[in-house]
Amino acid sequence: MDKQKLEIRLDYSNVMSENIGETHGLARQDLEALQDRTRDIHFDFYRLRERKELPFMNLPYEKEVVDEIKHYVEANRGRFENYVHIGIGGSALGPIAVQAALHHPFYNLLPPEKRRHAPRMFFLDNIDPDRIAGLLDVIDPAKTLFSVVTKSGGTAETISTFMIFMSRLQAALKNKYRDHLVFITDPVKGFLRKLAADEHIQSFSITPGVGGRFSVLTPVGLFPAMLSGLSGDELLSGAGFAVSKCGTEDLLQNPAYLFGAINYLLYRKGKRSVVMLPYSDRLYRTADWFRQLWAESLGKRVNLKKEVVHVGPTPIKALGVTDQHSQVQLYVEGPFDKLFAFLEVESFSETVPIPPFEKPDPTTDYLAGKSMNRLISAEKKATELAMTRHERPNVTFKFPVVSEFTLGQIFMILEIATAYTGRLFEIDPFNQPGVEEGKLATYAFMGREGFQEKRKLIEDELNSRKIYQV
Ligand code: PA5
Repeated sequence: MDKQKLEIRLDYSNVMSENIGETHGLARQDLEALQDRTRDIHFDFYRLRERKELPFMNLPYEKEVVDEIKHYVEANRGRFENYVHIGIGGSALGPIAVQAALHHPFYNLLPPEKRRHAPRMFFLDNIDPDRIAGLLDVIDPAKTLFSVVTKSGGTAETISTFMIFMSRLQAALKNKYRDHLVFITDPVKGFLRKLAADEHIQSFSITPGVGGRFSVLTPVGLFPAMLSGLSGDELLSGAGFAVSKCGTEDLLQNPAYLFGAINYLLYRKGKRSVVMLPYSDRLYRTADWFRQLWAESLGKRVNLKKEVVHVGPTPIKALGVTDQHSQVQLYVEGPFDKLFAFLEVESFSETVPIPPFEKPDPTTDYLAGKSMNRLISAEKKATELAMTRHERPNVTFKFPVVSEFTLGQIFMILEIATAYTGRLFEIDPFNQPGVEEGKLATYAFMGREGFQEKRKLIEDELNSRKIYQV
């Protein structure tokens, strides 16, 4: 299909004051006032990219990664019944979003021939003991490929989960366990990289300088996608298309900058949350991925000058139409503190007609002979209309279809939007000191060597607190 026809478009009519009024909307001048800053940011990005200091934007052109994975997939076709992805945060949310968007909704329940003999796909992105033990009830480790995904190579959740499966694998397969492991980690640093070298375990590298939440287009997302039969080439090609489309400094022509600018300007008007609202089950986990990208990148205590600012919009995910019967009352009539970002699919993979009841009835006849496709589209339009009438700013990302190409586009558009919005807020979107603090405290609680002093400090702090409980 002609790639232009697969272009994601951003409709921002319903944030403009002509449509939702001046109190909660934006005037064209508000956006134009950001044009000079946008140009500076744009050219700075350009310079950084030339120096390879904004590597996530160069990922679409790293085709050799795809070739490397293809080679592994070809050589191991049909070997595994199951794939277990062990990772957390940025090492899991992107790959999960890819699987949910692009596979059959009940993929793991399909018979192997309908999966083209690709493995069933499981993602362990939490350390809930029930979930881990439960997975052991449904997979045979001896028929499973385990992929351990951690950029730092040492995240406690990921490594502890790996330890559990490693011992099962070793018990079941003796010294053949290595063939059931893949590591996706930093090319040089960390515990996992060392283990890969010492034990000769198949590994793929996460591109240096690409942080977890920007890593879906590295082997982190590409490996499980390609192992399960999806096209890594198309994901990268969609992302490359988005890089080109966002290659203009003209704010009003650049969907990534525009989305960032709208978020920033409305944040300053008191809309401190952004609700991503896909009208598609396939895209729900993309909203989850976005939630991490936006929150971890933009929620910061200090700005680039190290002044305490405590900024950050709160990303929320909701699902159309399900949450029309749960959240939309609040969204339409509650406080004016949110921006809404619909994800709309113009053409679903399937068309599901609604057959009439045998006996006509005036209360249900309006549905008969229509389709679920038409109903979900009407419901999205109706919610959008209600929000707009109630002066709730909302934008829509329009997906012609959900495919590797469009998913690659949205990943890249939202990643560029994140980098750009970080600049508008004058914070560093690529660090996560708040998360690191929690990681270090966990090491201390778990008695890690070298963390005794930290543990003592934490214990003193906890002991000094007054306890209130009922
Ligand atoms: O985006 C990030 O950097 C984080 O969410 C990390 O992905 C997460 O903390 C897991 O880290 P790692 O991949 O090092 O195990």
